[in-house]
Amino acid sequence: MQILQRRMAVVALALGATLLGCGDRAQETARDEAVVRDVHSYARPEEARVRHISLNLLADFNAKQLTGTARLAIERAPGADSIILDTRDLTIRRVTDAAGNVLEFNVGRSDAILGAPLVVQLPAEGDTLIIEYETSPSAAAVQWLDPAQTSGGKLPFLFTQGQAILTRTWVPTQDSPGIRQTWDATIDVPKDMVAVMSAELLSEKPEPGVDSTRASYRFRMAQPIPPYLIALAVGDLAFKPIGENTGVWAEPDVVDAAANEFAEVDDMIAAAEKLYGPYRWGRYDILVLPPSFPFGGMENPRLTFATPTVLAGDRSLVSLVAHELAHSWSGNLVTNATWDDFWLNEGFTTYIETRLMEELRGKDYADMLRELGRQSLGETMTDLGGNSPDTRLHLDLVGRDPDDGMNDIAYEKGSAFLQTVESVVGREKLDAFLRDYFDRNAFKPMTSERFVAEINQHLFGTDEAMAARVRVNDWIDQPGLPDNLPPLRSAAFQRVDKQVEAFLAGTVPSKEETANWSSHEWLHFLRALRDTVNSTQMKSLDDAFGFTRSGNSEVLFEWLRTAIRNRYEPALPALERFLTSQGRRKFIAPLYSDLAQSEWGRAFAERVYAKARPTYHSVTANTVDDILRR
Ligand code: BES
Ligand code: ZN
Repeated sequence: MQILQRRMAVVALALGATLLGCGDRAQETARDEAVVRDVHSYARPEEARVRHISLNLLADFNAKQLTGTARLAIERAPGADSIILDTRDLTIRRVTDAAGNVLEFNVGRSDAILGAPLVVQLPAEGDTLIIEYETSPSAAAVQWLDPAQTSGGKLPFLFTQGQAILTRTWVPTQDSPGIRQTWDATIDVPKDMVAVMSAELLSEKPEPGVDSTRASYRFRMAQPIPPYLIALAVGDLAFKPIGENTGVWAEPDVVDAAANEFAEVDDMIAAAEKLYGPYRWGRYDILVLPPSFPFGGMENPRLTFATPTVLAGDRSLVSLVAHELAHSWSGNLVTNATWDDFWLNEGFTTYIETRLMEELRGKDYADMLRELGRQSLGETMTDLGGNSPDTRLHLDLVGRDPDDGMNDIAYEKGSAFLQTVESVVGREKLDAFLRDYFDRNAFKPMTSERFVAEINQHLFGTDEAMAARVRVNDWIDQPGLPDNLPPLRSAAFQRVDKQVEAFLAGTVPSKEETANWSSHEWLHFLRALRDTVNSTQMKSLDDAFGFTRSGNSEVLFEWLRTAIRNRYEPALPALERFLTSQGRRKFIAPLYSDLAQSEWGRAFAERVYAKARPTYHSVTANTVDDILRR
């Protein structure tokens, strides 16, 4: 780690030099040659582009607004007299240069998905813009929680979610994953609350705020990152260390359980560094959010954001941490250049997630994860139809909200692609390739096209037979699933299948038989039964294993889906509780969808949603709006 930190300091220095205008321009340009057209950003980085953001924001919990300034360091091509930034629902008060001279600006027409371009006239001299602005109380990236939505129940809470194109709802910048920026921030919050960000915390203790009731926190991200990775949370937060460079942030009454759940995080980092090279971000902490957090996890650099629904108490769901940690290589270091290349983030990460879990828990365990992934992939293929263009790895999201194109295909077909490469070239060669790939492309955007060039040049080389067996282009550009993916059969799931058969023939699995089952075996068991069991059979399972009371969110979710299909009344109060006590979209959306299939279900859904909607993050609420309006 120490060597690492020294190396990072060098990176920071080099960048600092660039920002001061005395960097090696030729090298800078070389670094940018990969900036490709991103249809989800108004920016024209070839004319003028943001290099560094300095935020100075005050969190106003009464008004539900962030207010303050973004000071942007820009770089421009000769002759460029304006810069275009991305904004959505921001109120821009004033723009000046570093000396305070007012700069003319114009906010263009707002598009529902992309927001509005902010065009600023550049001064003849200077490379600094200072934008005074405030966010809207309904900013899509920001969720402001009432005290009742937190575990402690006393203080409010706020968190941001930038991916895919929501950062522009709280930071006016060029919001494209291909335009990397360094940043720093000063955040002013009520004195009894703590601010954390996806960056280095610059002072151990909070500093004075704007008045005696407030405190401020300073952060710095010295490595250039895509803007979707800028993240903030403010609340009643406590920290508990796990290892020397790892720990958890959470509300005080959650932090012990979180530290216990994630105790293996240092082993995960060691496994990842062994396989894929140094972890380059300094610390790795995990923030456990209140239950409305719309995702399982979000790979914000140095500080993964995680749902509390992963705290099962038995470490059974920690592959989620392996996943978010893996993004420190695939995603945060080598980044999808546009959202069309999303699979380069998620497919690689899903593959690496299973490799890390294999290092930690062994092959049988990892094979269960792989097989559950294959099952989801099969279901998604069926839902979308094998000819759907949305089943290609390389997407075409022009005119669409990137959020709509992001499904299991990127994750599971992407991972299946790398499993296929592994089966053809062997693990050793693939690992060496990936390690070099991360080194060669560190802190750079990656397109699907450039990835194909990478794998041809650095993995297949002159071995045309090898390339022909992998069929890279079929995988990346064609819909459906190529037939060369390696077969997969989890030994543990074969044992579960026997119990499924026995159960369908009338025998409930015995306690002894299932005593060592992890939640993964249970998931497999329940998925196998989802379409076949009736309410009577459900009751016999519930009596034996208490699924309706399960404390494992994944198992409960699977059980509730089956309950909806059968209108299994004893589980309906638990279903209502689940829908109103957490807002993770992966759980929420399928349950509403299932409910919407029947008349009774739709009525149930409408009633519960009326109550729950105000508690959901915009990401989840928008998805459910679509489902229920169909
Ligand atoms: N980066 C994603 C979350 C994401 C994807 C946010 C697209 C916004 C748009 C994150 O790494 C992720 O994949 N989370 C998963 C968990 C994981 C274990 C599959 C999730 O939230 O369910
Ligand atoms: Zn991910």
